[in-house]
Amino acid sequence: MAKLGINVDHVATLRQARGGNEPDPVTAAALAELGGADGIVIHLREDRRHIQERDLRLLKAMVKTKLNMEMAATDEMVHIAMDVQPDLVTLVPEQRAELTTENGVDVIGHKHDFEKIIKTLHGSGISVSLFIDPSLDQVKAAHKVDADTVEIHTGPFANAQNPEFERTELDAIANCVRLAYKLHLGISVGHGLNYHNVTMLTQLTEIEEYNIGHSIIARAILVGFDRAVGEMKTLLV
Ligand code: PXP
Repeated sequence: MAKLGINVDHVATLRQARGGNEPDPVTAAALAELGGADGIVIHLREDRRHIQERDLRLLKAMVKTKLNMEMAATDEMVHIAMDVQPDLVTLVPEQRAELTTENGVDVIGHKHDFEKIIKTLHGSGISVSLFIDPSLDQVKAAHKVDADTVEIHTGPFANAQNPEFERTELDAIANCVRLAYKLHLGISVGHGLNYHNVTMLTQLTEIEEYNIGHSIIARAILVGFDRAVGEMKTLLV
């Protein structure tokens, strides 16, 4: 059965809307784990728009499954990651004006930078995943720079406006999953996945982990974390 990583950034977004201390993404993470989550994902952004360093440090102390820290490939973030020691760092591109992460990282275009940062994180005992667009060349480049895992960007698939585009995107994801499997890379997928579109991916049995935020948090607000997590888990058989 594939694993489910729950991104709790949206709980922090709600907290930041009032600048207070609730709802707490740390409590949400505990509830997600009780509901069956296999990992907790958070994105510490440069502008700290949702997750704060306090959340990261508390989550490091209390997460019992796996803590996956998404971050930009900057010196500041590498410093924080090496200090806090999450189980996994996922490198993502970051743009100030975006509502959410829009693209995968360009490993091909910044090969030496990624090589260097991955070496540094490995030296500190942290595994590294690269969030990439579904491109065979990016998978090959991720392997070359010694990434442990690739997380394939499912946003364009999830947002496809017609069945042809959806099929094209699904094929691109499938090809990348197969290549990553051959190269012995860990394989995750994420972005825009929900209770409907996720079942189109589960036929790709090489996928090891699904990282999902918005749709699960949106459902949890209405039905509770336990049920929202449990219902997603049953789809990942
Ligand atoms: N994976 C990565 C790398 C992301 O940046 C995000 C969004 O923060 C997700 C997964 C989760 O996406 P969504 O909230 O659309 O499920």
